[in-house]
Amino acid sequence: MKIQSLRGMPDFFPDDLKKWHMLERMLVQAFDAFNIQEIRTPLLESTDLFDRSVGNSSDIVNKELYSFLDRNQESVSLRPEGSASVIRAIIQKKQEHEKHKLWYQGPMFRYERPQKGRFRQFHQAGVEYLGYEEGLSEYEIISLVLKINEQLGITNYTLKINHLGDEESKENFCQALKDFFKPHIAELHEKDIARLNTNPLRVLDSKEQATQLLLEEAPNFDDFISDRSKALLKDISKHFSDRCNIIIDPALVRGLDYYTGLVFEVVSDELGAQDAFLGGGRYDHLSQELGGKNMHAIGFAIGLERIVELMQIKATNPRIKVALIIVDEQDHQKTYKIAHDLREANIEITLDAFLSNSSLKSQLRRANNSQCNFAIIIGSQERDTDQFIWKDLSDQGDQKTLGFKELVTLYKNL
Ligand code: HAM
Repeated sequence: MKIQSLRGMPDFFPDDLKKWHMLERMLVQAFDAFNIQEIRTPLLESTDLFDRSVGNSSDIVNKELYSFLDRNQESVSLRPEGSASVIRAIIQKKQEHEKHKLWYQGPMFRYERPQKGRFRQFHQAGVEYLGYEEGLSEYEIISLVLKINEQLGITNYTLKINHLGDEESKENFCQALKDFFKPHIAELHEKDIARLNTNPLRVLDSKEQATQLLLEEAPNFDDFISDRSKALLKDISKHFSDRCNIIIDPALVRGLDYYTGLVFEVVSDELGAQDAFLGGGRYDHLSQELGGKNMHAIGFAIGLERIVELMQIKATNPRIKVALIIVDEQDHQKTYKIAHDLREANIEITLDAFLSNSSLKSQLRRANNSQCNFAIIIGSQERDTDQFIWKDLSDQGDQKTLGFKELVTLYKNL
């Protein structure tokens, strides 16, 4: 029996990764432009971290966490997202009082039912601004989101925004929702009853028809959040409306428990059912929930598998590529030395040594297929005279015969 990869955990082959490398380069460029620094945290953390941050009312912790006991019988989990680990790291380093602009990237794990655009191991690039209170940072974060889309050539998308109020208004609204649904409990699906008990806001995005009907009569979040919050939401919507399609969506509550304040998601109808390729918001209370000092926080994460689908930019290889073709069997040490000296002369060039004894014709075909710009050919005649053929592989490419010194000089100046 051959061993298969686990469900929802795909491999990435060189051809797939060309576009990923472009994406990663362009993201780092955008982060650099905003002076955001990279942070790396472990893939494995104590299960408590996600219980206390992502929230034990969320699907992510209840059903999707990859948790197991380690050899010391401690419960550990593969990270389902990056924000909790970043906050944990900053608290651990006692840096909650400082300001941070951080980015991270890497695999995340959620035991979800795999389908198009939804995986059990997927990749996110995320940004967290820590120590910045509500106001200017909201605008900068949204402006970064738009910049990233623009850089990647993504134009067909909608930015949905909502405001979940501060902690107090969120609590008051949740209580009002509970009171409203109490006499209707018998009409609700058990999933919604559970949500009502753990995180009543999640009832707002219920897919159950009975719940949807009741919601028409339910208290309105708008009546609970402050005028300041409403004004911020309107102003953001107005401010960015000439740069993108932006809508205020009162049903946008997000699947993680830690948000208060602005929340947002970017969706594209080109993606099918799993249409969100970026999500985030403000989460000012997480630091305290995790035992740290009070620290403002706002950020977002991009689903890389999804955004790569939307990128309108073709992968290009910026490096010049040279094939080293040896036709007849030759002295291994000498061949290795030629390749070594050339790479030493110019490390900016990709030298693909074919390590093959097949015919010149088939090796030239291989050079063309792998998009080499030039070939260095050593046949038996060249070997005997210590000469090299330098061949331009473009359409009108010519060729010349060179000694080793001349070859190195040419290679150095490519
Ligand atoms: P999230 O909305 O759970 O937020 O995930 C962000 C993005 O990750 C989603 O919009 C989606 O593109 C991608 N994603 C999520 N699950 C999967 C999956 N199973 N397969 C493929 N892609 C997926 C967070 O994770 C928050 N930590 C974002 C954040 C940062 N909020 C504040 N700071």
